[in-house]
Amino acid sequence: MVNSNENTVITKAVIPVAGLGTRFLPVTRSVPKALLPVLDKPLIQYAVDDAVEAGITDIAIVEDTRPVGSYFHSMPDLEGKLREGGRNELADQMVDISSRARITSIKQLEPLGLGHAILLAKNFIGDEPFAVLLPDEILWGDHSSTAQVLDVRDRYGGNVIAVTETSWDDVHTKGIVAGTSVEPNVIAVEEMVEKPKREDAPSNLAIIGRYALEPTVFDFLSQQRRGAGGEIQLTDAIIDCMNELPTHGVIVDAARYDAGVPEGMFGATLHQAAKDPTMRQMIVDFAAEL
Ligand code: UTP
Repeated sequence: MVNSNENTVITKAVIPVAGLGTRFLPVTRSVPKALLPVLDKPLIQYAVDDAVEAGITDIAIVEDTRPVGSYFHSMPDLEGKLREGGRNELADQMVDISSRARITSIKQLEPLGLGHAILLAKNFIGDEPFAVLLPDEILWGDHSSTAQVLDVRDRYGGNVIAVTETSWDDVHTKGIVAGTSVEPNVIAVEEMVEKPKREDAPSNLAIIGRYALEPTVFDFLSQQRRGAGGEIQLTDAIIDCMNELPTHGVIVDAARYDAGVPEGMFGATLHQAAKDPTMRQMIVDFAAEL
């Protein structure tokens, strides 16, 4: 197997946010899912923070006609007003948000699938390995989950994907992988399938929205083949790469919430709220009342 990019450090990431967000209707009629907040921070910021902690400096946000990337624009008027009012700490936070990474916006005008959204970032990425983060997968741990994926990629090369055990009742909604363990929490992937029926699923290890990919995936994405649900699937392109590249799955050490559905967002909100003494007490009091 050839992997000429093995020693290249990954500094670019793609964050696709142009899906319809149908599992979060009606709010996603007008608010992009990536701008829905866990308390006071939108999902897109958690994803960008996770990427920046992993050493990413350049990020392409693939969005529909509703701007998400503009969240990271500098806002000198707002910053100025906050400073005039003596709220320097908040103003500093605003400056930090707009200077964390270089953000590029790319438009996906039709939601043809995750694979299609990534394909649109081909020119931005060029011929180097890159990271992909799906912001509706929240992964909170001591270390950035993207950093955990990039670490495995540094050691094994090829394509690396974050995975987690999921309920067998859910395998038909996810990309599923199976393979051989090569070290604790790392598997060499031998089988991968997008949204299998429960009886066809090779395992219950689900792909969860953090990837390190070789630019070879663009060769297959360019064919624009339709897969599960009639969409151009990223999983299918990664499967196509498996003859040429090693593929590993890493069970990331992180609390995971699927914020693409209201109950996952609620779990994530409780997780964050419990860190604040006042809100924690509100949760405890409410639970006692229940
Ligand atoms: P999802 O399938 O989780 O999101 O796609 P969705 O399609 O927005 O939501 P549902 O299933 O209708 O509720 C995974 C990621 O890929 C992006 C989504 O925005 C999400 O971040 N995506 C998906 C695109 O950018 N373009 C697409 O055509 C499809």
